[in-house]
Amino acid sequence: MKRRLLAAALLLCMTAPLLKADEGMWLPALISQRIGDMQAKGFKLTAEDIYSVNQASLKDAVVLFGSGCTGELVSGEGLLFTNHHCGYSYIQRHSSVEHDYLKDGFWALTRADELPNPGLTVRFLERMEDVTAVVLKGYKAKMTEDQRQELVKKNARKLRDQIEKEGNGIKTSVEALYYGNQYFLFVFREYRDVRLVGAPPSSIGKFGGETDNWMWPRHTGDFSIFRIYAGPDNLPADYSVDNVPYRPKKFMKISTAGVKEGDFTFVYGCPGSTQEYVHSEAVRYIQDVSDPEKIALRTARLNLMKKYMDQSQAVRIQYSSKYASVANAWKKWQGEEKGLRKNLVVPVKQEYEKRFEEWAVGTRYEGLTTRLAQLYAARNPIYRAYEYYNETVRAVEKIQKGMGRVVLAKDYYQPIDEEIFVAMMEAFDKALDDSYKPAYFLETRAEFGGNMEVWKDSVFANPERAKALAVALDKHYSQQIAPVVKELSQSITLLYRDYMQGQMEFEPQKAFYPDANLTLRVAYGKVEGYQPLDAVYYRPVSTLKGIIEKDNPDIFDYNIPQVLRDIYARGGFQDQPVCFLATNHTTGGNSGSPVLNADGHLIGINFDRVWEGTMSDLVFDPEICRNISLDVRYLLFVIKEVGHADYLFNEMVFVN
Ligand code: ARG
Ligand code: GLU
Repeated sequence: MKRRLLAAALLLCMTAPLLKADEGMWLPALISQRIGDMQAKGFKLTAEDIYSVNQASLKDAVVLFGSGCTGELVSGEGLLFTNHHCGYSYIQRHSSVEHDYLKDGFWALTRADELPNPGLTVRFLERMEDVTAVVLKGYKAKMTEDQRQELVKKNARKLRDQIEKEGNGIKTSVEALYYGNQYFLFVFREYRDVRLVGAPPSSIGKFGGETDNWMWPRHTGDFSIFRIYAGPDNLPADYSVDNVPYRPKKFMKISTAGVKEGDFTFVYGCPGSTQEYVHSEAVRYIQDVSDPEKIALRTARLNLMKKYMDQSQAVRIQYSSKYASVANAWKKWQGEEKGLRKNLVVPVKQEYEKRFEEWAVGTRYEGLTTRLAQLYAARNPIYRAYEYYNETVRAVEKIQKGMGRVVLAKDYYQPIDEEIFVAMMEAFDKALDDSYKPAYFLETRAEFGGNMEVWKDSVFANPERAKALAVALDKHYSQQIAPVVKELSQSITLLYRDYMQGQMEFEPQKAFYPDANLTLRVAYGKVEGYQPLDAVYYRPVSTLKGIIEKDNPDIFDYNIPQVLRDIYARGGFQDQPVCFLATNHTTGGNSGSPVLNADGHLIGINFDRVWEGTMSDLVFDPEICRNISLDVRYLLFVIKEVGHADYLFNEMVFVN
């Protein structure tokens, strides 16, 4: 009873305005709607400085880097900063035993030493505009959702073809916002000659490794440097020795003044995916089913990898990248699950839905939340099966190979895969009803008397066996599971289209922002620490002193390069800032995003969030949601003191 009262009291203070301070990922083209608030919080520039189609603006200095990161221009000669983990695969590709740039870092001494990266592109946003009326032209209320989607696709294609006719690297996309209540056209110019200029050793760029990932205090020098090249006409061109450094319309000036708690900050980048307006049942599923089950499956998988990685240096190298990518989401989900519970997100949303339904009586929104709950109830069992396929069946490389996916032999260690096979197939079999499994699976299981060890031996000894299992599972997944999930998800989206509109009418005073979808956004907030636990306060700035405190040659993640120890021992750098926290609302995809101050000058590079706040993909809590940025002054320090590459400073512009 006491607990109920407490929950009720908490609800009362939490249900007030749903949009709390500093929440939001805003569309640059509509930033004029937020600029008053930004200026009130300290921003000194105008909306036109952030986004303009008539004059050079900060948007011209931001790029989508590769397929899922952000980068920023920092010189008039195409120089670009992003994260080390965003450049990682390129740095790796240039590395060999003789030149291990991952281990030792890389610094191009001259332009001729800059390394091309086939396949790597960057996209500048030329403009974005609301094209809802254009893509819905010809829409009739009696159309089915499939017909509506066909229409949107057709209209969008026509519009996009017209624009892409220009060539010259022009690319377009039309994106649905608010579940298809609005559509925006994005016009990009894509450059495809992007060269590696510099990267710190991984012991700096990945300092802290998986141990510190998603955590504060953080001391990772997570940056790498590239340069965009263009044809002599400054337009996109295939790689050629005749290409010249790209001359951007705008590049960022670098602030050396530093940051302190309370300073205004904003992040300009490409957040990937959020779900801020979903039903309590969607959150409940994530918190009670999806996150805990996926965490458990990955814990088992990571433990198996680690067992062998700890035994052999060669295996550690083979599996470090796989381990990192499995561990990254695994750790994030743990923070998310905790955060959702701690913030009572499910009951708070339920309370909101109750008030919404009271308001909706007699409107076209009446009963929406009940119907959503029913659809989730119908979707969840098969969606759970869908997730299990992804986390178990598809976690086995032998099965992936049987499905036709390329598994690199040089990064493959069979004893790990065998143990993962047994653990994951057992989990799959135990968790799911037989109706979610292909007949071949059930028959073969019977043949082996349910003994997964024996089945495993046969799969790994006999390629035919492996292939048959892989094909059966893949076919069942893609024909029986995925299409049903897709259909149910579509019905849910359709309800959300109305529910979204309903929420906007229900709370006309609230400022809404569209969920992230890897399009360019602005988030703003301030430098601020947080309280992760009772009686503990985390200050928002970390320093070199903390690196030295963590330094330990016996711990791989904390073994810093000798040169850093020497520099520190020489003195004068103990207070060198390394990373800082701020309240900007970011998510995956914001990696590499420029973090700017009130004057629009570069103060940092975003690379992570704090673990306790990762529920911000669903609900942003200003008390605890923090983004983690590399302090640009640490980047400058590493370039100069570690890389001796301060000739790069000549093309940058510094202000203080
Ligand atoms: N957590 C950050 C992100 O989501 C960094 C990931 C890369 N670093 C790592 N230690 N795995 O991308
Ligand atoms: N490291 C993440 C990325 O690659 C950013 C962290 C996050 O905010 O999710 O985009």
